[in-house]
Amino acid sequence: MLARGGLRGAAGVSATGTSPSEEKDETGEPLIARKQIKHAQPWLTQAEEDAVASTVASGRLTMGPATKEFEASVAAFAGRTHAVAASSGTAALQLALAAKGVGPGWTVVLPAYTWVATYNAVVLAGATPVLADVDPLAYTIDPAATVAALDSAVTGGADPGKMAIMPVHMFGYRAGAGWLPDLARERDLTVIGDGCCSFGGIAGGERCGAWSPLEAFSFHPRKVVTAGEGGMLLTDDDEVAAKLRALRDHGAHRSAEQRRQTGAGGPMVPEFELGYNFRITEMQAALGAAQMLRIGELLRARRDVGLRYDELLVDGPAWLRPPPRLAGGPGAEPDGDDRILTFYPVTLWGSRADDAPAKLAASWADGDAAAVAKADKLGAWRDRLMGDLAAAGVAARPPMLSLPDLPYVQERSHLAPTDYPVSSLLARLTFSLPLHHEVTWDDQRQIVRLLREIPSSWHSLDERIAAVDRALGKAQS
Ligand SMILES: Cc1ncc(COP(=O)(O)O)c(C=O)c1O
Repeated sequence: MLARGGLRGAAGVSATGTSPSEEKDETGEPLIARKQIKHAQPWLTQAEEDAVASTVASGRLTMGPATKEFEASVAAFAGRTHAVAASSGTAALQLALAAKGVGPGWTVVLPAYTWVATYNAVVLAGATPVLADVDPLAYTIDPAATVAALDSAVTGGADPGKMAIMPVHMFGYRAGAGWLPDLARERDLTVIGDGCCSFGGIAGGERCGAWSPLEAFSFHPRKVVTAGEGGMLLTDDDEVAAKLRALRDHGAHRSAEQRRQTGAGGPMVPEFELGYNFRITEMQAALGAAQMLRIGELLRARRDVGLRYDELLVDGPAWLRPPPRLAGGPGAEPDGDDRILTFYPVTLWGSRADDAPAKLAASWADGDAAAVAKADKLGAWRDRLMGDLAAAGVAARPPMLSLPDLPYVQERSHLAPTDYPVSSLLARLTFSLPLHHEVTWDDQRQIVRLLREIPSSWHSLDERIAAVDRALGKAQS
């Protein structure tokens, strides 16, 4: 049994005076992880080091063979005609919006639960972001909320001919499966997929990158494949690809003749339009290309960790819901190969029933006192649990955020968290477990044991403290 705060404190010494490594559960086993388990870490080998070193040695530091190789390997992996590398996932999103002509006068619908980059890219393009709530089981943009967001934008005076949607493929799960392509056709929507945190995801036989006509990836170190920093856009459209290449390179359009001349140091000047410098360096591209040569093992390692959590969490706490076993959306039944995860999120909905999240979110949005109290309690548990896990050596993190929780978003977009209840609750109730190649079966057994036992120790502790308080109260009266 744990003493109050027994797994807390930077120094790692509990209120009982014992160090966490001496704490035992009732079976006599130590209650903390035997080592520090990181939340995420890139899997880098000698091959990556050699690739970067030889690029530096080559003296070609930007827009060279490594960039071409990285682009070709990602295009082939996702089954797309063109891959255009950029300096980050955010830069890729900005390039995509610019290449599709999305700017002032445009409305862009995006999910409320995402990373700030999705929203910022739209605002920086000069377009108006309109948020839609997400599906509580798939963590991706909700179809009914999307239609409502589009309709209310039009009612509010938005130009129906200038509407775009940015579905965010979340944690490896596909957004919009089964409904978004039809809606986009019916309403003539420009679709730009934010697959920044879903590289490697597969649904319906298609890889992320091919889930929308134009999709963006990130190669930040927390992702399945890293280039240090980096991004990529995938499309089958020749014109869009040419535009993206120009826009990332100061808006420079080069004809084949100009490219030959430039290569030979000739005088011909490319034609320019307004553009960015969002080029990727050769060192980043070399790292990314070396990772792509190992893509099979990178994906397998994560999938195996994910499948083991699935299995262990069958007996996990009933108030905590593991992610749905799907890549394509509720109802899909993938085999193991579909289980590609950037994060392993778990959400404290208080129940595992499929309808519990939607019910809690609806009552919470209505201001129902019991739902508000329940959400507050579960949110406090989430925070306390992450703190106690950290003290026990296990790093857990909230993986995404709810845009309506951010003051600058509230001010700019005139909205309130209660308008997006699922997103707001996901941001308060979700955390993700360590997921990377070094996480072992033993680590995972320990993590799931901690998930079960830490909260039960609070419960019994709270009861004991209440009994002491009662006894003291009697003694004093
Ligand atoms: C959903 C989403 N969009 C965009 C980004 C931005 O990618 P980057 O950090 O490479 O700019 C991220 C990064 O985590 C993300 O998760």
